[in-house]
Parts: sequence; structure tokens; C-alpha cells
Amino acid sequence: MKRLHFHILATLIVMVLSYQVNAQTDYSYKNKSLPIETRVQDLLGRMTLEEKAGQLNQLNGGVLTGPQAANDPGQQGKLKLLRDGKIGSFLNVVGAAETKAVQKIAIEESRLGIPLLFAYDVIHGFKTVFPIPLAEACSWEPAMAEKASGIAANEAAAAGLHWTFAPMMDLTRDPRWGRVMEGSGEDPLINSVFAAARVRGFQGNFDNHHVMACVKHFAAYGQPEGGKEYNTVDMSRYSFWNTYSPSYHAAVDAGAATVMNSFNVFDGIPATANKFLNTDVLRNRWGFKGFLVSDWASYGELITHGVAADAAEAALKGILAGSQMDMESSAVVNNLPQLIKDGKVPQSLLDDAVSKILYWKFKLGLFDDPYKYSDEKREAATMLTPASLETARDAARKSMVLLKNDKNTLPLSKNTKNVLVAGFFADSQEDALDFWCGKGEAKDVVTYRNGIANKLPKATINYAQGYEASGKTNGKLLVDLKKKARGADVIVAVIGITGKHAGEARSLADITPPEGQMEMLRALKASGKPFVVVVHAARPMVLTEVEKLAPAILNAWIGGTAMGNGAADVLFGDYNPSAKTVISFPVSVGQIPVYYNAYSTGRPHEDGHDGPNDFWVSRYRDIPNSPLYPFGYGMSYTSFEYGDLKLSAAEMTASQTVTATVSVKNTGSREGEEIVQLYLRDLVGTYSRPVKELKGFEKINLKPSESKTVTFTIDSKMLSYFDFDGNTLLEPGKFQVFVGGNSRDVKTADLRLK
Ligand code: NOJ
Repeated sequence: MKRLHFHILATLIVMVLSYQVNAQTDYSYKNKSLPIETRVQDLLGRMTLEEKAGQLNQLNGGVLTGPQAANDPGQQGKLKLLRDGKIGSFLNVVGAAETKAVQKIAIEESRLGIPLLFAYDVIHGFKTVFPIPLAEACSWEPAMAEKASGIAANEAAAAGLHWTFAPMMDLTRDPRWGRVMEGSGEDPLINSVFAAARVRGFQGNFDNHHVMACVKHFAAYGQPEGGKEYNTVDMSRYSFWNTYSPSYHAAVDAGAATVMNSFNVFDGIPATANKFLNTDVLRNRWGFKGFLVSDWASYGELITHGVAADAAEAALKGILAGSQMDMESSAVVNNLPQLIKDGKVPQSLLDDAVSKILYWKFKLGLFDDPYKYSDEKREAATMLTPASLETARDAARKSMVLLKNDKNTLPLSKNTKNVLVAGFFADSQEDALDFWCGKGEAKDVVTYRNGIANKLPKATINYAQGYEASGKTNGKLLVDLKKKARGADVIVAVIGITGKHAGEARSLADITPPEGQMEMLRALKASGKPFVVVVHAARPMVLTEVEKLAPAILNAWIGGTAMGNGAADVLFGDYNPSAKTVISFPVSVGQIPVYYNAYSTGRPHEDGHDGPNDFWVSRYRDIPNSPLYPFGYGMSYTSFEYGDLKLSAAEMTASQTVTATVSVKNTGSREGEEIVQLYLRDLVGTYSRPVKELKGFEKINLKPSESKTVTFTIDSKMLSYFDFDGNTLLEPGKFQVFVGGNSRDVKTADLRLK
């Protein structure tokens, strides 16, 4: 018996010791306790050239399992590539069950069992849809965008996703471009702070409630000529450095794991093959450590751009320029191994790209638990929670910009007995969501009509369609509208553009409201009844005629799942609007691009000056120079008065700071929020400088009669800018400081940099 005990004990000791020895000598990528870099290097050493190129291959997955996929040769072909180690990532494979099933194939049926990355466009929500990013930016509350991105990430991660292709931070000055909705408007600072906030919100601490972010589209995709999608971009390096690059840089600095190429040319070279962008700026200057993914087929499109003769040359040019993962064109997976064997591409470029991709797979913990994001129970419990919907509602109302409010037409009384809600978009769930609404469903959207009905449960809420879905006039609908208007106490009329015309490949040459919508408004005006206009559109529209007709205009943008409740909160005064537009509203399409941070020109013109010396000046003869509503503009149900702007000193040196203070008073009768804005102008520089540049802002809350002093600290970074080569210039001389509630109505002071 004693002997037996001894034997068992000895065996146990040997087992423990040998386990320890094994653990110490297991230097393979499977050993969790090793540093990620060591694991990456080990795995890299085990991979063939083909498997390495496979990691750079991202394909559009769709549904890859189940009976339909089983009979689809295309889908089966993708699975074969996966088993052969020739796919590193799928986009558009979504859902806990599906991602788990596809991941299982990668883990169990490919030689090295390298997990896949699942990517998806989670732009402004996954299942709970938040306002379009452009709208959200009008809140000037990056913390709210961060929170919304966090909720979107949590929902997406519960559906098995690791990676979103967002945020998009392409600064744009052209509302004809369909993707204006995806960014944060015309200002570099606003784009930068929202980009960084969204990166933080999406990525969190890289646990399985978050997703990797993607800085896109690098670079300058937001300025296609004429606002036409995928069109040529042609800008000076001076504009690139000062206006277009800061938001990408801010997102990289915020720690974004990935960056995406843009479709356009930059200095004549498509972004995917552009070494200046991908290597010189992104890697060498900004120190980006993550990996770069192409946009959809943009490697292959080097051929149509006319800079590569075939797919092999496309892969060659892209990789040499610093592009890495290839979304959807297969140019890389099919050609890179041979290019390396032929000595045309250094092996180190491939190894570097693969290491970075593997790094993120390790970092997310996918080698240790490949299914940690794919949890069906969690998926079911995470979507559209009451808390998420409440945040979506809050985001919606904080994003809606009050453009006009004659004689306090708004807010409407909650005692109203009879409301007519008019206009096709007032009642359409289908038109409420845009192309980038993730897995959001129309059936979950609260329309304007329903939001108003929720707000006034005892009132009679009537509805009249007013115009055809296409925007055309319809006599019968007008007759019905007029009849119903007669019985109404007040009318809420919704005009705008369908969400279906918002997003990629959805440029519009004409962004004025169509005739049927205008006919509806004219009929309402003729009815003599009080009415207000809600604009439902994912871009600023040309509202010049609407402004003349309507006593009150609420620009609701496209507000997501909770848009109707958010709008009703504003319309009936439960929320006092505070949003300010981050993009100018043009007076006419011909005025585009119109933006506040323009250069002076040699012959500037101010509207209203029509004397003999105002002829040979920079203007149109038929329209004003100013936009209809300028950048930074938005009304409240209360009023604010700005005191004089005071500087702590009239001069500063490069190492000093000056504070700018202004006192803001709520002179109305309601509590409200005001967004106080700081602008600067460099009066004389080596380069011509914009007439105003936003340098700071603060959102304050004021009770009736309350005053607050807002202080901005001006430092030399705010006074500096970039030259043509991206070097920082700080030039002594005169500056102007402006503070106000929008970019037009400001208090001014002078400052000198010594
Ligand atoms: C093309 C778009 O430009 C890009 O933004 C998007 O992420 C990809 N398609 C994937 O859907």
C-alpha cells in the first residue's frame, strides 16, 4: 500500500515538473503567456509565402454556411480558399452563429488555424441606428458620439464582428456628394474631435464588447470634383496639410487599429498606389502602427485608373506604396508570392504587413478564443435595449438644428388638440434609413408621425401625404391636404430627401426640394394655419424658397431609429434645441462649394456692398456670397447675449498663452444650451490664410437670466499652420480673435504674436 502511494506521488511530481518544463520551452504562437510580438514572429516563421499573402486577402463573405451556400459554387470557392489559408478576413459575414461557423472552418480546417477577422460597415449604429454622423457632429458633443459608437460597437461585437469600417472623417464642402452624411462637415477641428471620439468609442479597450476602428478614406476622398462620387480629387498640398489631413491624423493619434485607402487620385496617383500618403505621411510622419486595408477593389482599380497594366502590376504598385490588405480585388493573393519570388517586392514588406495583421488577431485574443465575439445568447440580449434607444433619442434631438423660428412658432403647445402631420417622409419608415444603417431595420424606426402621436396621446393626429414619394406634385394629394389642414390647429410638414439617396454612390446634382414638396408648403401657407417645416435629409438642402415660406424650420437630418421621438421632443419643447450646423447651407446649388473657412482672395466682396468699387470683385451677379445658414449656426428657444470679448494680453510670444474670455447671458425665458465658438484669423502670413478658423468651442447650459464666463486659452499651436511641405509655420504678426454663437455673428479682438 505504502509503495503504491509513493508511486502515485512520484508520478504526480514528474507530471507537474514536465508540465513546467514544457511551458517554459513552448515558444510557439499557441503559448498564451508569451508576448504578442514573440507569438507573431513564431507564426510568421511557420507560414508559406502563399499563406502570408493569404492573410492580406479580404473577401466579401455574405452567407457562407447553410443549404443555399452549399449549392453556390462562388461561396464554396471562398471556403476552399479559406481552407487553403488564402483568406485573412471577411467583410459582410455577420451574426453570432454565422461568424462562429465560418471561424470554425478557419480554425479547424486550415493548416495553421489562423483566426479570421470579421469586418462590417458599422457607421452610425448596428441595430440601434443613431443619427447620421453629420447630424451627430451638429451636437458639438464628441462625448455623445463616443457613447453612440460604444453602443454600436457593443451590438456589432455581439454579432461576431471584430472590426468596423468607421469612422469616416473625409472633410467635405460639397453637399451634392452622397457621403457628406458620413463625415462631420466642413471644418478640420470638428472632424478631428469627432473622429477621435468615435475611434475611442468603437475600440474601447479592445475587449469583446468593442471593435477595431478604421480611419477612412485616406485621403481626401471628400472633395470629388463637382460632388460626383468617385470623381477626381485635385487639391494643393497646402490644402491637404491644413484642411484635409488633420482629421485622419487625429484618428491615428487616438489609436485607430486600421486605416483604409480612398478610391480617388491624390496628386494624380490613386491612393492605393500612393507612396506619399501610405508611407511618407501615414507611417513615417504620423507613426501609424496598425495595418492598412484597401477600399473595395481599389487595388484592381489601379488598372482602370490607368496606372497599372494588369492585376500583377496593381499588386506591385500598391504594396510598394505601402498598401496592405486587399479588399475584394484578389490582386494581392494571386500575384504577390510570384512578385516576391521574382525579386520585385522585398519579402520584408509582406512580412511587415502580415505581422501587423496577426498582431491585431492576437491582441483581440482570437488565437486564444476564436469564438469570443460569437455568442448567440449575448447577441439576442444586446440589440435595441431600452437604454440604447434612449441614447439614440437623446442623440437625435441634440443633432437637430433649428434654422428658423419666427415669432416663437416653436415649440408647439402640448395642449394642441388637432395636429396634421403632412408629407410623405413624415410617415415612411422605409425612407428613414440610409445606405449605411448597418443591420438597422425600418420596422424599428419611430417616424415623425408616430413620434408626435407618442408625445400627444390624447390629441387627434391626422396625416396627409401631400406629395408623391418621388417628390412630384399630385393634385389629389393636395386636395386631401387642404381639406385636412382646415380642421387642424397646427401642421407639421415634413419635406426632404429619402434616406435611400444618402451614402455611397448617391451624389445628387440638385439638392433643392422638389416641386411637389414646395406645392405642399405653398398650400399650407395659403391655408393661413400655423405650420412648421421639418427637413428630413442626410445633407444640407437648398432651403432658400422654404425659408421664405415657412415660419419655422427644424433641420432633423436623418435621425436614426428614434428620430420621431427625438423630433417630437424638440417640436413640443421637451428639449430646447442646441445643435449648430457643421456645414454651410447653400443659397443655391451654384454657390457650392460654400464654406466659412475660405481664403480672402485678392478681391473679396461683402454682401450688400454694391457701390462703384464693388464690380471687379469675387462674387456671382445673381446670388449673394454668404450661405443661407452659415457654419456654426443654429437657434434655441431662448436667446443668448454675448458680452465684449476680452483678451488677457494684446501680445504674446511663442511660449506664452493668452486667454480670451466672454460672458454669455441667457436673455430668454427658458433654460438652454449654447455652443460658444472661438475663431482665429492670421492677418499676414507667408501663405494666404483663411478668413476664419475654428480653434475651440464650449457647450454651456444657462438658466433664464444666468450668465457664464467662457474662457479659451490661445496658444502658439492655434496660431501656427502648415506650409506646402507640411512643415509647421509660426509667424509673428497680427491675428484676429473672434468669439460668438456662429461663424458669422462674432465679437472681435486683436492679438499680436511677437
Ligand atoms: C466601399 C466604401 O467606400 C467603404 O467606405 C466601405 O467600407 C467598403 N465599401 C466596404 O463596404
